[in-house]
Amino acid sequence: MEFKDVLYKRQSIRKFTDQEVKAEDLEQILDAARVAPSGDNRQNWHFVVVRGSELKEKIRQAIEDRNEAIAALVEPKDPERAARFRKFAKHFAYFFVDAPVLIVTFTNIDQPSGAREYRIAGIGQEEIDKLYLRSPGLQSIGAAVENMTLRAVDLGYGSCWLTGSNYAAEQIAEVLKEAGFEKEGYFIANMLALGVPQPDPKSPPKKTFEEIVTYL
Ligand SMILES: Cc1cc2nc3c(=O)[nH]c(=O)nc-3n(C[C@H](O)[C@H](O)[C@H](O)COP(=O)(O)O)c2cc1C
Repeated sequence: MEFKDVLYKRQSIRKFTDQEVKAEDLEQILDAARVAPSGDNRQNWHFVVVRGSELKEKIRQAIEDRNEAIAALVEPKDPERAARFRKFAKHFAYFFVDAPVLIVTFTNIDQPSGAREYRIAGIGQEEIDKLYLRSPGLQSIGAAVENMTLRAVDLGYGSCWLTGSNYAAEQIAEVLKEAGFEKEGYFIANMLALGVPQPDPKSPPKKTFEEIVTYL
């Protein structure tokens, strides 16, 4: 596919057909992440591929349990917000169980350049925090995941990037630990649901070029 077509065809996919993702295609998609740029070439990522329905269901349950625990605390103070929080998970998290593949991206905390020097120079924590705010590590993760979404389109698949369930990230990591994955110092950055899209996915409108670009 022409690169431009890949770019403009990409949409977030939340409804998938029953078709499998071929092993060789999955490898190509993961390899697109492998070659992504990263700050200081740290390649601060690790991808966990979940295909079994049982494990996906355990992850979904971990999110639901956490969602419910938070909603129950919010409910007495703001019932409408609690209902919206539950509804958000229903529409924007649980769908990944019907995707044939879920890729969970782990990362570690990447020390931004300048941070070590700030500490030696005795520059205050507030200024150091500003360096972390720009998180080069997470920017690198963005590059890797975007590479996967684009390669997926190129191979006839669709995906949806998920951070909306990150309030359950520690519980999800626990499920994956029980399943046999653990990596010292690494935590979940996001998940990517992947499969063959059902027809006619809908996407919200984008801002205009003028709204987001300034030429000086
Ligand atoms: C960092 C990031 C996190 C996202 N998290 C979620 C999510 O948790 N659930 C979801 O359904 N979509 C999620 N999305 C998809 C966005 O909602 C989607 O990209 C946006 O609405 C624009 O639609 P489009 O991707 O179809 O162009 C996420 C996208 C990004 C880039």
